[in-house]
Amino acid sequence: MQALLNTATKAARRAGEIAIRQLKHLDEVNVRNKGINDFVTQVDEAAEACIIETIQKYYPDHAFLAEESGNLGENEYTWIIDPLDGTTNFIHGLPIFAVSIALRIKGRLSIGVVYDPNRQEMFTAIRGRGAQVEGHKIRVSGRRYLDDALIGTGFPYRSHERMKSYLAMLEQVLLNTADVRRPGSASLDLANLAAGRLDGFWEFGLNIWDIAAGSLILREAGGLISEIEDKDDYLTTGNIVAGTPRVHDALKKLLTPHL
Ligand code: IPD
Ligand code: CA
Ligand code: CA
Repeated sequence: MQALLNTATKAARRAGEIAIRQLKHLDEVNVRNKGINDFVTQVDEAAEACIIETIQKYYPDHAFLAEESGNLGENEYTWIIDPLDGTTNFIHGLPIFAVSIALRIKGRLSIGVVYDPNRQEMFTAIRGRGAQVEGHKIRVSGRRYLDDALIGTGFPYRSHERMKSYLAMLEQVLLNTADVRRPGSASLDLANLAAGRLDGFWEFGLNIWDIAAGSLILREAGGLISEIEDKDDYLTTGNIVAGTPRVHDALKKLLTPHL
């Protein structure tokens, strides 16, 4: 497992360096639209190619599920990759984005890496062995109650279908917690939650590559994550609520009536 994790961190660091280098030359970045408010740049593509190439060098038979390339191959070992999570921030030069790499072995998330290249922080987890940032063990915060909890979220800026219900939830969260943050990189939000810097989080409509690595890091740091409606696996629906164990439960209870 350690060798697999080392490969993932090496790939994440390389991809992060590609994004940071280009951040100084944003005028050269070529932005294409994949859908409403859904952008891709040559940096997303170059970072993804670099991650896949780095992993394939050591594990040529492994499969990939990557945001820009889709499914590549089939294997019990599948790497789930978001090469640049927070593309909108990146395009605007706002230094909040991350590289997210997870490894699923026989259907179970087994390794998670989220790299914040702006702060040069590598968040890692191996199933059953806890979570770390830069080699130091991390735990979720000790906060138990909503009134002093800092809650992260993501807005429904692409699909507007749930706008009304989301805004009703946001109102309740603002009325009942310390404050709300919308940093703009779901994988990094989950990693920061794991490190005790946020106490709860919710968002609708995420993709598996946004949350695979961050959710393992969070659970290994003692946090909880679940599907808001308990409908299906949260990795499948992408509708997530997360937090310290007590904040997760209280936040879910607060959100549910507004679904
Ligand atoms: C997005 C970010 C954002 C979240 C979106 C994601 P991308 O990923 O994680 O915080 O609100 O739903 O799609 O497109 O920048 O990789
Ligand atoms: Ca993403
Ligand atoms: Ca992305």
